[in-house]
Amino acid sequence: MTVVLIKNLGEHVGEEVEIRGWLYNIRSSGKISFLIMRDGTGLVQGVLVKKEVSEELAALVGTLTQESSLILRGIVRVEERSVGGYEIQVTGMELVSGAEEYPITHKEHGVDFLAERRHLWLRTPRQNAIMRIRSEIEHAIREFFYQRDFVLADAPIITPAACEGTTTLFELDYHGEKAFLSQSGQLYNEAAAMALGRIYCFGPTFRAEKSKTRRHLMEFWMIEAEMAYFNMDDNIQLQEEMIHYVIQRVLERCKRELKTLERDVSKLEKITLPFPRISYTEAVEILKKEGVDFTWGDDFGAPHETIISNYFDAPVFVHRYPAVIKAFYMKPDPENSEVVLGADLLAPEGYGEIIGGGQRIDDLKLLEKRIAEHNLPQEAFDWYLDLRRYGSVPHSGFGLGIERTVAWLCGLEHIRETIPFPRMLHKMYP
Ligand code: 4AD
Ligand code: MG
Repeated sequence: MTVVLIKNLGEHVGEEVEIRGWLYNIRSSGKISFLIMRDGTGLVQGVLVKKEVSEELAALVGTLTQESSLILRGIVRVEERSVGGYEIQVTGMELVSGAEEYPITHKEHGVDFLAERRHLWLRTPRQNAIMRIRSEIEHAIREFFYQRDFVLADAPIITPAACEGTTTLFELDYHGEKAFLSQSGQLYNEAAAMALGRIYCFGPTFRAEKSKTRRHLMEFWMIEAEMAYFNMDDNIQLQEEMIHYVIQRVLERCKRELKTLERDVSKLEKITLPFPRISYTEAVEILKKEGVDFTWGDDFGAPHETIISNYFDAPVFVHRYPAVIKAFYMKPDPENSEVVLGADLLAPEGYGEIIGGGQRIDDLKLLEKRIAEHNLPQEAFDWYLDLRRYGSVPHSGFGLGIERTVAWLCGLEHIRETIPFPRMLHKMYP
């Protein structure tokens, strides 16, 4: 008998097939039982008429509990009214393993209760949809870069130096030496770009953020690209093409998941290229126009980003931030050294910054000066300075936070649902 995934049932109408999964729900009314099965790819209802099956099987059905693992056999029928559009006329069944009383029932549960049981929460249709969209986003990005001849150059996780400031470092003991979990693969990406031209890395990054927000994780995944001979505009154009590609892929291939999440897809469908671009100074003007008391030179907080992004239907690039609020490696604008050639991409609908990036300082002397000004240890950056000693070129890059992108595309309230096992302030169980 053919073993079939629930999502592919449509290809087997009229055939007797085998489904391997778990019992999501069961309803019985005397002579007939309705078993909703899940296998990770979808849900399907099995209909079991007691007098049509063996006594043994009829007895087994009465003992089944939610989340018992089951192998179900039966004939596939079209049934518009049924979940997924198909139904299985049950002919046979095998209990693989019974389940104890399952804590996550079909009634509403509080989010803290669910978060404590994240390992089980993942089994619900909503979480399933989110994880599938996350997977699609990751695949789409890899494909985008592959099509453009970028090399995937993985960056290390254990690092001797800070990339994004010293206040959010997770420190560890590296055989007696002080080391840190990587905040960003960027510095290594720059080395790889000088070796390979156009590269990206994709891995977990770590920030000991003291803030408990809907947008911050202690451990998150970042796609970071770095391109030799790219200026700031080349960089921005690549980013918008990547984001646009990802949106199309998700709209095309995750229709069912977006529907499960009740995502208003019209908001994603209307996003076209190019994305708007405004300077930090123009963004400050928007804030002032909206009556926000804001001083030029301060960094934007989440509420500011929301006000700015609400001005646009598409993601918006905010470029040329004041140098004082940005990282040490950002190249000053030749036309105004108070600002840098960096740009953040703010997602619409209040999802905030999803990309940080910019052009890097390529001059050795200036970079040495910045490292000193930021009180960073020169020795730890000596290898990085080699990149400016031996054939320095203009170059740019960026980092996209996967979880914030998932939150936006799925339309989620909170970042905790965007990753299988979130690491949040004071929360790392399970
Ligand atoms: O803006 P950030 O700090 O930029 C960098 O790390 C650069 N070195 C990247 C580069 O140019 N190669 O972080 C980039 C993105 C943010 O825009 C955001 O989407 C995400 O990473 N991010 C976080 N996501 C979840 N939780 C956190 N604590 C995050 N911090 C940053
Ligand atoms: Mg940033």
